[in-house]
Amino acid sequence: MPSNSYEKPDFWSKKAFSEGYPARSVYKLKEMDEKFSLIRKNTRAMDLGAAPGSWTTYLLRALDGTGHVTAIDLSPLAKDVKGDNLSFFQGDLYAPEIRAEAKKLGPYNLVVCDAAPATTGNRTVDTARSSGLVELALYYAEQMLTPGGNFVVKVFQGGGEQEMLKKMRGMFATARGFKPEACRSESFETYLIGLGKK
Ligand SMILES: C[S@@+](CC[C@H](N)C(=O)[O-])C[C@H]1O[C@@H](n2cnc3c(N)ncnc32)[C@H](O)[C@@H]1O
Repeated sequence: MPSNSYEKPDFWSKKAFSEGYPARSVYKLKEMDEKFSLIRKNTRAMDLGAAPGSWTTYLLRALDGTGHVTAIDLSPLAKDVKGDNLSFFQGDLYAPEIRAEAKKLGPYNLVVCDAAPATTGNRTVDTARSSGLVELALYYAEQMLTPGGNFVVKVFQGGGEQEMLKKMRGMFATARGFKPEACRSESFETYLIGLGKK
């Protein structure tokens, strides 16, 4: 029997399944897209920490055959996540060769990162690992995002969001935190959003 809400299919998981998305996390990106107009036709997007692929699927559907999505993850995408305008690289975001492959398909108008470390249950360790991924995603954005481009990254609360936002304010016209409604109530994840790369 499921013992907690992470194992029990909730409203968002059932909705995702019925709408053909491999994970409930799609509704977080959808909400951020609706609020901040992240995706337009012809957008070239990079999805970091993309598996099983609900954000990638959302991007592909929104682009409707235009633009391009570069997705990267340690794990493969779900088998139904496909598109002529999708390139997937299976590997570690920290690996220079993965970065080099991603760069060849850039520059990008949008970088989204929902990557999360495998959690240990030790909050100090988990937030430190999450901060490392945020710094890395910011590095990808710094290197590969076009001027005017947008950026979204997941961070575990308590992982130095204020310092990261300060750094992002130097890089983007606007930078702010945002916690989508679809985040589980007990989850300590939140998102940082940078709009309009300088
Ligand atoms: C919450 S899941 C992403 C869900 C995805 N946005 C979706 O909607 O289907 C987090 C992902 O981050 C990936 N990840 C964590 N660290 C990574 C790393 N160093 N390199 C590549 N992927 C990583 C994990 O493998 C995992 O698939």
